[in-house]
Amino acid sequence: MSSTKMVDPKVRNVGATEYSWCKAVHGGTGIAVLALLSSKKPDISHFQIALNKLQNSHPILKSKLHSNTTTSNGNFTFLTFQNPFVKIQQHNLSLTSNILGRNKNNDDTVSSFQLILEHELNQNSWHNDLNRSSSHSDDMFVASIYAMPEETWTVVMRLHVAACDRTTAISILREMLVLMKEEERESESEEWKKREIGFAMEDLVDGGKGKKGIWARGIDVLSYSLNSFRLTNLKFCDTKGTRFSQVVRLQLNHNDTKRVLDGCKHNRIKLCGALSAAGLMAAHSSKNSSRKYGIITLTDCRSSLEPPLSINNFGFYHSAILNSHLIKGGEDLWELAKKTYGAFANSKNNNKHFSDMADMNFLMCKAIDNPTLTSSSSLRTSIMSVFEDTVIDDGGKVQREVGVDDYMGCASIHGVGPSIAIFDTIREAKLDCIFVYPAPLHSREQMLDLVNKMKVILIEGGKAYEG
Ligand SMILES: *[C@@H]1O[C@H](CO)[C@@H](O)[C@H](O)[C@H]1NC(C)=O
Ligand SMILES: *[C@@H]1O[C@H](CO)[C@@H](O)[C@H](O)[C@H]1NC(C)=O
Ligand SMILES: *[C@@H]1O[C@H](CO)[C@@H](O)[C@H](O)[C@H]1NC(C)=O
Ligand SMILES: *[C@@H]1O[C@H](CO)[C@@H](O)[C@H](O)[C@H]1NC(C)=O
Ligand SMILES: *[C@@H]1O[C@H](CO)[C@@H](O)[C@H](O)[C@H]1NC(C)=O
Ligand SMILES: *[C@@H]1O[C@H](CO)[C@@H](O)[C@H](O)[C@H]1NC(C)=O
Repeated sequence: MSSTKMVDPKVRNVGATEYSWCKAVHGGTGIAVLALLSSKKPDISHFQIALNKLQNSHPILKSKLHSNTTTSNGNFTFLTFQNPFVKIQQHNLSLTSNILGRNKNNDDTVSSFQLILEHELNQNSWHNDLNRSSSHSDDMFVASIYAMPEETWTVVMRLHVAACDRTTAISILREMLVLMKEEERESESEEWKKREIGFAMEDLVDGGKGKKGIWARGIDVLSYSLNSFRLTNLKFCDTKGTRFSQVVRLQLNHNDTKRVLDGCKHNRIKLCGALSAAGLMAAHSSKNSSRKYGIITLTDCRSSLEPPLSINNFGFYHSAILNSHLIKGGEDLWELAKKTYGAFANSKNNNKHFSDMADMNFLMCKAIDNPTLTSSSSLRTSIMSVFEDTVIDDGGKVQREVGVDDYMGCASIHGVGPSIAIFDTIREAKLDCIFVYPAPLHSREQMLDLVNKMKVILIEGGKAYEG
């Protein structure tokens, strides 16, 4: 038997989409955070074992992102190690209190749990001073525990989006809950050491379709031109201050959720259509003339890759579709929802619009390199982003068993991106949406006002589907 020498770490260059995320995360967009509020004190060694198992089954989580800034465009590679290395950062109550005190700003409407989530969204371990040294490596995955007031704990997993799209975040949540229930036993497996990180999305594009396939599928050539930087934005509150990500949450009760979902079913659209429409109507309510707005819809490409990937393939495998919509005022929720969803579905299906010239990566990188192309250097590429598919979570029972009372998952957008990124979940048949926005470009008051308007629009719209 020939002994093949195991190289540690294994090296893989980033793909085009991963590359654009590396650039975006450097500026503050794409820091994914999964935060769990627990009423049971987490057993650190148990948690560490669960993290090790998680990393062993998904090698991208035991990778570091290596950047070599001596190359002009900043070259990025993944270094994947055989052994898991994530160390849990522990914050005692006094450390947590300091963080809460710094972030509170006399705002008692925001829970401590949410303040910790916001704090983590703004911890950018991937923001290196490009002049510091010619090359450095940073972990793709960071875990922390915060002791919280009132005998609760927040467990946080923070990841670079190139390693973790929303599908991966949901899988991590589900796998962690199972691992936390399991017995404490660390099993050594040689097989784990041989597991490799997955391919970049571009390398899984069907040869026959050529590069044009997956990329162009959803590309509406017109909307991807730089004209999209001229689409209407929300009013900017402060364009000068250093940006950071903040969060507002929208929750609907069981009955209102059911009516909205019935409305979607009746109109043969996905929930993202209703959310986009409600968002556009709320944003436009203060305007008295027609405006054109951009909506980005993120769609999971796993099933259309060659070979197709499953949710167990961790990484970033979404592509983005930008559609623009003219809003005049006085629209009906469901008519507009059909229009916005239809535009997206059409872009996704319409192979005639194939083009290899421009895509969202291009648009994102263009804005990063030339902020002044965007209105007030806001780096906003659209008013709102939504996911094509809602996360359905009926796992409340398992969550309660391990002591998880609540959780929130989302990613930062204060570098480049939309004004509002919506992360929606139907949790135990109730709609639970997290809205991430860049502050102080937008203020919490502005966002609360917008989200409350959306809530009223959705509840009122749902009334047509009562009973
Ligand atoms: C960084 O890139 C330069 C130019 O390609 C190369 O000479 C150098 O070896 C690289 N450094 C590392 C640490 O990869
Ligand atoms: C990054 O570096 C690797 C290895 O040095 C090289 O093969 C690759 O072409 C470089 N990529 C870019 C975008 O410069
Ligand atoms: C909390 O942790 C900090 C830093 O590790 C330490 O200096 C401090 O003494 C700790 N406080 C308490 C109350 O344990
Ligand atoms: C890095 O160096 C360049 C040129 O020497 C300089 O213009 C830039 O401000 C520096 N950036 C930082 C973050 O120090
Ligand atoms: C939901 O609807 C049911 C049946 O129509 C009603 O009994 C219940 O009170 C409603 N709950 C809420 C929170 O409105
Ligand atoms: C819109 O409202 C502004 C003030 O709120 C007013 O100055 C302007 O004339 C209005 N425009 C139209 C088209 O009604």
